[in-house]
Amino acid sequence: MVEYLGFARFQNHQPDLKRWIPTVLLSHKTLFTALCFIGFASVVIWQRSIGDGLGLFFGAPLSPCSSRHPVAFNLTDFGGVGDGVTLNTKAFESAIKAIAKNRGGQLNVQAGVWLTAPFNLTSHMTLFLEEGAIIRGIEDEKYWTLMPPLASYGSGREHPGPRYGSLIHGQHLKNVTITGHNGTIDGQGKSWWIKYRQKLLNHTRGPLVQIMWSSNIRISNITLMNPPFWTLHPFDCKNVTITNVTILAPLFDAPNTDGIDPDSCENVVIEDCYISVGDDAIAIKSGWDQYGIRYGRPSSNILIRNLVVQSMVSAGISIGSEMSGGVSNVRVENIHVWNSKRAVRIKTSVGRGGYVRNISYRNLTFDNCRVGIIIKTDYNEHPDDNYDRKAFPILEDFTFDGVHGQNVRVPVRLHGSEDIPVKNISFRDMSIGISYKKKHIFQCSYVEGRVIGTIFPAPCDNLDQYDEQGQLVKAAISPNITDIDYSF
Ligand SMILES: *[C@@H]1O[C@H](CO)[C@@H](O)[C@H](O)[C@H]1NC(C)=O
Ligand SMILES: *[C@@H]1O[C@H](CO)[C@@H](O)[C@H](O)[C@H]1NC(C)=O
Ligand SMILES: *[C@@H]1O[C@H](CO)[C@@H](O)[C@H](O)[C@H]1NC(C)=O
Ligand SMILES: *[C@@H]1O[C@H](CO)[C@@H](O)[C@H](O)[C@H]1NC(C)=O
Ligand SMILES: *[C@@H]1O[C@H](CO)[C@@H](O)[C@H](O)[C@H]1NC(C)=O
Ligand SMILES: *[C@@H]1O[C@H](CO)[C@@H](O)[C@H](O)[C@H]1NC(C)=O
Ligand SMILES: *[C@@H]1O[C@H](CO)[C@@H](O)[C@H](O)[C@H]1NC(C)=O
Ligand SMILES: *[C@@H]1O[C@H](CO)[C@@H](O)[C@H](O)[C@H]1NC(C)=O
Ligand SMILES: *[C@@H]1O[C@H](CO)[C@@H](O)[C@H](O)[C@H]1NC(C)=O
Ligand SMILES: *[C@@H]1O[C@H](CO)[C@@H](O)[C@H](O)[C@H]1NC(C)=O
Ligand SMILES: *[C@@H]1O[C@H](CO)[C@@H](O)[C@H](O)[C@H]1NC(C)=O
Ligand SMILES: *[C@@H]1O[C@H](CO)[C@@H](O)[C@H](O)[C@H]1NC(C)=O
Repeated sequence: MVEYLGFARFQNHQPDLKRWIPTVLLSHKTLFTALCFIGFASVVIWQRSIGDGLGLFFGAPLSPCSSRHPVAFNLTDFGGVGDGVTLNTKAFESAIKAIAKNRGGQLNVQAGVWLTAPFNLTSHMTLFLEEGAIIRGIEDEKYWTLMPPLASYGSGREHPGPRYGSLIHGQHLKNVTITGHNGTIDGQGKSWWIKYRQKLLNHTRGPLVQIMWSSNIRISNITLMNPPFWTLHPFDCKNVTITNVTILAPLFDAPNTDGIDPDSCENVVIEDCYISVGDDAIAIKSGWDQYGIRYGRPSSNILIRNLVVQSMVSAGISIGSEMSGGVSNVRVENIHVWNSKRAVRIKTSVGRGGYVRNISYRNLTFDNCRVGIIIKTDYNEHPDDNYDRKAFPILEDFTFDGVHGQNVRVPVRLHGSEDIPVKNISFRDMSIGISYKKKHIFQCSYVEGRVIGTIFPAPCDNLDQYDEQGQLVKAAISPNITDIDYSF
């Protein structure tokens, strides 16, 4: 069975624009079929239309009948053995070399357990994980490639100097798809977590999948599990869609196993995913302190929707704490956070610089969380001591519309500071059932903004209160009143 990527046409509701969406078409007989999409148009654009006219457009220009002949290979064609014991690094490398030589193609990984050391992807390729296929990372760190630290972090996140690369890696790529019938990429992180805690590692651990300086990346219909470090790390990429992916790691004792960390990326859609991990389910980032400020690449235009997430150690949806290149134009909607320590969090500190701006949250459900919405401005982890004490991040333009839930101890904690005040935050249509005390359930400090209509819990006195018609009902006493209580 060979399966390959095809293109199906679809007409958008905007009549003046023809749009195209890539679809996985399945064929049970075709082998080495030369796919020449000459009959189709020369542009592939896939568009995500969001609610009130906001749109993210992206896709890749397709030269429909270039000299490349799309091919599909099985890993077994290159000597791969899916017995869970044989090392398949050479098979992956040869297959991907063949695809590169062909200037594109698909690699099918069939059912079986395919042990491998880290390998690199190439442009215009699809890695297709069939049902029951498991790509498993080798535990012995000697096989893991060392790479220079990311320029925007200055040093490895855990150790100075080089860091381990990722199990599946790519740099300077275009048009890469990782998909399948819910096959799995398993990082066997456990041995890494243990060594990390025992301080036996000399370098920062590697992510499971890391794609750097690339564009038009699609990841869908697969399961990612047990990363040594972060799970999926698009770094300085453009046009990334992540759809219908399951991400699993133990909820405890799996340090830094973030789910998806878009880092200095532009045009990202993350949708229809289930994420349950040992750190943040999602963390939007853009570099660390003076290194991130110098690298200067923001994360922007990011849509996160229709997720179910769980994090007992950190938070469901985070921004930061590394955000020195700036984070803006983020929309987070239809998110269910359950049995978690925190639901949504923005974290930063003095030294970061940058900004977090124009972030809108809609239709969030918090179910049994310790803290609901949290902004923290004293997340004091620094790459070294040379950070700029005057580099104050700007936090402004946040909206929360439709936040519901039950069994939450502290629904809201907005901890701005004199140096890093939170500006222009608004709340509408919020009702969060509390599980503990009735006091200190809407905590504020250095926060300026408003509430529209009646919400529960009742807002702090830092915020103006309007009715649904926009009439001021109660003016804020002062933005700078401080009522923060971490004691419960
Ligand atoms: C790949 O393996 C399938 C069986 O799983 C077979 O039908 C197909 O012909 C193989 N394709 C190639 C390119 O070897
Ligand atoms: C990203 O998508 C947009 C919209 O389709 C397109 O104009 C742009 O060229 C893409 N960016 C890259 C780097 O391919
Ligand atoms: C992957 O590519 C990067 C960048 O070229 C290189 O540093 C690294 O060694 C490659 N990794 C492997 C496993 O070949
Ligand atoms: C993208 O990659 C696929 C293989 O994964 C290939 O069939 C297709 O032609 C590529 N598209 C472009 C625009 O290069
Ligand atoms: C999501 O992925 C699963 C497993 O691969 C698949 O069965 C299901 O059809 C996918 N859902 C959508 C909406 O694509
Ligand atoms: C995909 O596989 C994972 C892990 O085996 C499983 O938890 C998940 O339910 C599967 N998803 C679908 C849609 O079958
Ligand atoms: C870390 O460095 C020490 C001292 O050089 C060495 O003995 C040890 O094997 C190294 N550990 C790893 C995991 O590379
Ligand atoms: C996911 O898998 C389903 C079922 O095979 C398929 O219909 C859908 O197009 C796939 N989606 C993506 C984005 O790959
Ligand atoms: C705010 O972000 C949204 C995307 O979430 C974008 O459409 C809108 O233009 C941004 N607003 C401003 C003022 O930049
Ligand atoms: C709100 O999100 C939930 C998932 O958390 C979804 O089931 C529901 O349809 C969404 N409601 C609206 C109005 O979009
Ligand atoms: C406050 O934020 C909202 C939503 O991001 C934005 O539309 C509005 O222009 C901002 N107001 C000011 C005064 O900046
Ligand atoms: C609140 O604190 C800010 C500094 O964060 C200051 O500029 C402002 O004047 C203070 N406002 C009041 C009313 O005290």
